[in-house]
Amino acid sequence: FELGLLSGRHVLINAGPTREAIDPVRYISNHSSGKMGFALAEAAAEAGARVTLVAGPVNLPTPPRVQRIDVTTAVEMLAACEQALPADLFIASAAVADYRPAQCAPGKLKKDTTREDGMTLHLVRNPDILATLATHARRPAYCVGFAAETDDVLGYASDKLTRKNLDLIVANDISQAGIGFNSDDNAVTLIDRSLTPQPLPQASKQKLARQIIARIAQHLNPPA
Ligand code: PMT
Repeated sequence: FELGLLSGRHVLINAGPTREAIDPVRYISNHSSGKMGFALAEAAAEAGARVTLVAGPVNLPTPPRVQRIDVTTAVEMLAACEQALPADLFIASAAVADYRPAQCAPGKLKKDTTREDGMTLHLVRNPDILATLATHARRPAYCVGFAAETDDVLGYASDKLTRKNLDLIVANDISQAGIGFNSDDNAVTLIDRSLTPQPLPQASKQKLARQIIARIAQHLNPPA
């Protein structure tokens, strides 16, 4: 891992979950801890980049020399990412909620004692942050997505690479114990537009982050 690999570059990374309010005390979210994205931010800063890290609600210290912007919802995360443009590289490691409650109830929702069968919550689609930035008028030169999948991991990941107009996708098999959401380790497969999968075996998220940043830097600085 070479220091200075990304010097002079602005790297934008999002990390962690988003939180979508149902009422003042309840929300929809997921188990993302932010560890993968924070490790990527740290590795990019070590590689000499200026790093903007847009973080959902997580419990992690900000890596050295990283500019962190805290957000809660997917809509806020999109706005913060757009505001951080232009960037040379965008890495979308956040686990963005695909849907949010159509409205946040102004007061705490009460149990409906007249209905024993349950209740229905109306959800609406959230914006796709990665697809928005990857087709933006100020599109970062290199856009990287993650794909958290349980079945046909490489198939769905390749699909997202094409559909979201990406340069690289990091396929993350979240059906395996000990990797993925909230663990200290991960194991991923990188797929670029040549569609040749490159597996990176299980390691700490810090070690994998350095491998991913080194690989991306090769694309940004092709040999003369
Ligand atoms: O945070 P950790 O605990 O360390 O866990 C890391 C991780 C498992 C969350 C991470 O490695 C990971 O896989 N992140 C992506 C999780 C995810 O939501 O994947 P997806 O397949 O649903 O989304 C595909 C891509 O589109 C992702 O880059 C995601 O950031 C992006 N997306 C998805 C939906 C949406 N509305 N907007 C988006 O930008």
